Amino acid sequence: MTTDEVHIWQTRAGRPEDVQAAFELLDGAERARALRYRLRRAHDLFVTARALLRQALGHHLGISSAAVALRYGKHGKPELAEESDFRFNLSHSGDTAVLAVSRGREVGIDVEDTSREVDALGLARRFFSRAEAAWVLSHPSELFQAAFFTCWTGKEAYLKARGDGLLFPLDAFEVLPEGDRLNLKVYGDSKETRRWSMQILELGAGLSAAVAVEGYGWTLRVRGSPRPRHVAASCPQSTLTTPAQP
Ligand SMILES: CC(C)(COP(=O)(O)OP(=O)(O)OC[C@H]1O[C@@H](n2cnc3c(N)ncnc32)[C@H](O)[C@@H]1OP(=O)(O)O)[C@@H](O)C(=O)NCCC(=O)NCCS
Repeated sequence: MTTDEVHIWQTRAGRPEDVQAAFELLDGAERARALRYRLRRAHDLFVTARALLRQALGHHLGISSAAVALRYGKHGKPELAEESDFRFNLSHSGDTAVLAVSRGREVGIDVEDTSREVDALGLARRFFSRAEAAWVLSHPSELFQAAFFTCWTGKEAYLKARGDGLLFPLDAFEVLPEGDRLNLKVYGDSKETRRWSMQILELGAGLSAAVAVEGYGWTLRVRGSPRPRHVAASCPQSTLTTPAQP
């Protein structure tokens, strides 16, 4: 892949035998972490997501899943242990795992399963900036939840691209949609605002998702599950849009 592309890989936790096969791809630390999950669903999703991460990065780097070595940033963001211009970010929710991979640009992704009921207005009033809360409120009540998740996933994708999670205050910036693009405004910091471009991801019914990418002029490719390297002949993919520079 080139530095102008951002690849989105997506998969779902499947049958017990698939989860077992995915477990076999993990390293010792990941297996130990997987076994600490008490809920089967959470265990299966973690295992599936980490297998996706290993298979996709192995595919991009031209190495086996097992050879993918990870380390963690100051605030827990996984990155490649070896010097590389590949960047990635993982997210999981419900039974879906998604991974964004880029080159030479930081990236953050968030997916949320929107089938669960949330107190959209209450959460928006509590955690969102004034402009975001007002945008959610501007919708008819049956669309509050969808609007809430659009902002929520955008905010999380930006925080995850930065890598410092909740250390960056949620009301210090806003993310508001314009078509399938998300407009970021970091209050009082126009340089940081211009550093990123963001997009809504359409990944299927019952899912809300967003990606934040450093810079402009990239093309999004949405892909299915990677195959293990020894059977990977080709992977299905489709090209989507490129956010324009504002
Ligand atoms: C991890 C964090 C960054 C995101 O958590 P989350 O949205 O609950 O979970 P996601 O499934 O989207 O992402 C989890 C994955 O992100 C990656 N991750 C962990 N720490 C990260 C960090 N500091 N930055 C970016 N990615 C991180 C990991 O791969 C992790 O999955 P894994 O441990 O199973 O491999 C969380 O600690 C955080 O700070 N989130 C921001 C929370 C927030 O502000 N929410 C309100 C938005 S309105």
